[in-house]
Amino acid sequence: RFQKMEKLDEYLNVAIDLAKQAGQMIIEWHRKGSFEVNIKSNVKDLVTEVDVKIERFIFDSLKQRYPEHRFIGEESVNDSNKYLAWDEPTWIVDPIDGTMNFAHFSPWCSVSIGLAIKQKLVLGVIDCPHLGRTYSAIKDGGAHCNGKPIHVSSINEVEKALIQTEIPVGFKFPKSPNFADKLFDSIYWKCQGFRCVGSCCVSLCLVAEGAADVYFMHGLKIWDMAAGYVIVTEAGGFICSISGENFDPNKGSLIAASNSVLATKIVERFRDSKQ
Ligand code: IPD
Ligand code: CA
Ligand code: CA
Ligand code: CA
Repeated sequence: RFQKMEKLDEYLNVAIDLAKQAGQMIIEWHRKGSFEVNIKSNVKDLVTEVDVKIERFIFDSLKQRYPEHRFIGEESVNDSNKYLAWDEPTWIVDPIDGTMNFAHFSPWCSVSIGLAIKQKLVLGVIDCPHLGRTYSAIKDGGAHCNGKPIHVSSINEVEKALIQTEIPVGFKFPKSPNFADKLFDSIYWKCQGFRCVGSCCVSLCLVAEGAADVYFMHGLKIWDMAAGYVIVTEAGGFICSISGENFDPNKGSLIAASNSVLATKIVERFRDSKQ
């Protein structure tokens, strides 16, 4: 077990180093002021040359060190590596989370590196370069921001909670057009504050450090959630699916909350909404 932990410490140092270097690439490209932006599935789904360059940089570095490991990355994903399906250590990378923000020169973007071993998420690093914050966690090692321990808030009432979520953009939610209506009916009017930063990873880090009390969203992918899952749970937070089931990184919905009491209230309000 000692040997296993040592390995995880090594992986953590590698991931922190790579995420920070990638974060600096975000800053540099923003400073430069122009980059190529392309449309993926629709006009609200963008990829820039920087997404692709950062993913290549992270994967090249990891593959050189760990050629026997597996890799899942948003910009190089294909049908055979979309899901967590192997027992070998599997790196899960979102090179820029918040590409829309990045493309608009908004600072709410981050680099996310997660690691699963035997299909269990055990490591997460999220670098938010414009905030100057690097969040990190390994299983049973607590969560940290810039090396200092972080912890979720103790708020367990919706009325006192600052809630992060996102307003679905329509293209992505053809089967659930009432998500936004449900959101407003059950949460928006009742919580203390409601925010949409437009980056799943940044939102999860805010929950982990107690700067938000809930983040919830559906239509997410494994690379949006992998690192943040480890950071939030190691910071003492609770994560389940939007319908209150056990969190499954291969399924795209989550509620990340300071505690299970608050998560359950969100599940119930959302489910019982008349909309
Ligand atoms: C997106 C962001 C956004 C979330 C989307 C994701 P991307 O990731 O996390 O906050 O609402 O579902 O796709 O595409 O910017 O990496
Ligand atoms: Ca994307
Ligand atoms: Ca993402
Ligand atoms: Ca991305």
